[in-house]
Amino acid sequence: MAVYTLPELPYDCSALAPAISPEIIELHHDKHHAAYVKGANDTLEQLAEARDKETWGSINGLEKNLAFHLSGHILHSIYWHNMTGDGGGEPLDQDGVGELAGAIAESFGSFAGFKAQLTKAAATYSGVRRPSARRSCRPRPRSCRGSLS
Ligand SMILES: [Fe+2]
Repeated sequence: MAVYTLPELPYDCSALAPAISPEIIELHHDKHHAAYVKGANDTLEQLAEARDKETWGSINGLEKNLAFHLSGHILHSIYWHNMTGDGGGEPLDQDGVGELAGAIAESFGSFAGFKAQLTKAAATYSGVRRPSARRSCRPRPRSCRGSLS
């Protein structure tokens, strides 16, 4: 049976700052990624137990859990190796990344179009904490209080 392990980061937590803070790297590695690895291994144990006991009542949920946790593990593993503290900016032909530059231009019209779309999508994705999200912690105006109680 496969047992998944949390890989070491290929760089120090501060290697991607200031684009990504050390705290965010640590959160994604030590919490998110570790939880996916644990979830995949726990689910494999549950699947083995189901096979041993021939108890198939939760097989559908176990298969979904394994797919969820394993994809989180794989995506995080790819994520760590796709970033560098030395990168950034527009990929240019002279940098040896002509295929990437061409694919971005073909799909988004330009690097500026790609950047604008990605920035907007990331800012509006529900899992991303935006500075404006802090407003929800402020006390509501008097007219909003108590209307549902
Ligand atoms: Fe993450």
